[in-house]
Amino acid sequence: MHINKNGIRIHDKGSFMGMRNAGNLAANILDTIGELVVPGKSTEEIDIAINKIIEKANAKSATIGYRGYKHASCISLNHVVCHGIPSTKIIKNGDIINIDVTVIVDGWYGDTSRMYAVGALNRKAERLIKITHDALFKGIEKVKPGNTFGDIGNAIQTYVEANRMSVVKDFCGHGLGTVFHAPPNVLHYGAKGTGPVLEEGMFFTIEPMVNIGKPETKILSDGWTAVTRDKSLSAQFEHSLAVTADGFEIFTLSPSNKFYPTII
Ligand code: MF3
Ligand code: CO
Ligand code: CO
Repeated sequence: MHINKNGIRIHDKGSFMGMRNAGNLAANILDTIGELVVPGKSTEEIDIAINKIIEKANAKSATIGYRGYKHASCISLNHVVCHGIPSTKIIKNGDIINIDVTVIVDGWYGDTSRMYAVGALNRKAERLIKITHDALFKGIEKVKPGNTFGDIGNAIQTYVEANRMSVVKDFCGHGLGTVFHAPPNVLHYGAKGTGPVLEEGMFFTIEPMVNIGKPETKILSDGWTAVTRDKSLSAQFEHSLAVTADGFEIFTLSPSNKFYPTII
């Protein structure tokens, strides 16, 4: 491992296995807990189930104890943009839910989130989820040596805005590896050709948040929960990935190949 001129860690080939293991556990958790995202369950129950799986795998939650956060996941409903705190709140038909899990396996971090739909989805929510997922992959497709972080952000923003939705600017993706949040900030908007140049061996997340309405957010008095100011619905997908010699490797693909959005 070395650190490049932009302060970004460049990992060697031997580091990929650690990220594969961590990413795989995180993605596997999201596969497994899908069946708990049903009407009548509280978000706390889902979080407890997530923590049990992490403990059983002899891994660690990266979020418990992180800046005072107390849970193994963030669970963000409807107009919650991100960092929703698991609680006694009950999930109901028609809710759209992001579950974000970060685990540490042998010191390596795997960070991923997905959308879940509870029961029947209305057209608008379904379209939001699909566009957000596709926006993540528009960004991922730009990942190869020589492209820039601005190319990733630009691809995401262009796609989302062409679909008359908005990209949240207040939160970003991040470098990760043996730390949770490392340089660079991975913006989900921006101009082509700007920002640091991608190099083989960079590990980072891309995790666009997309709103049906305006992009502005605010944080609730709990200090964590970020919501849309205009109360419009928000969605997010997140993968942890690497830059490879000729493109990218996604560490957090669904092991059971369940693709999203999943209608439960
Ligand atoms: N997993 C989130 C991310 O994608 C971070 C959550 S930090 C927490 O970066 F403390 F809110 F859990
Ligand atoms: Co992240
Ligand atoms: Co995350």
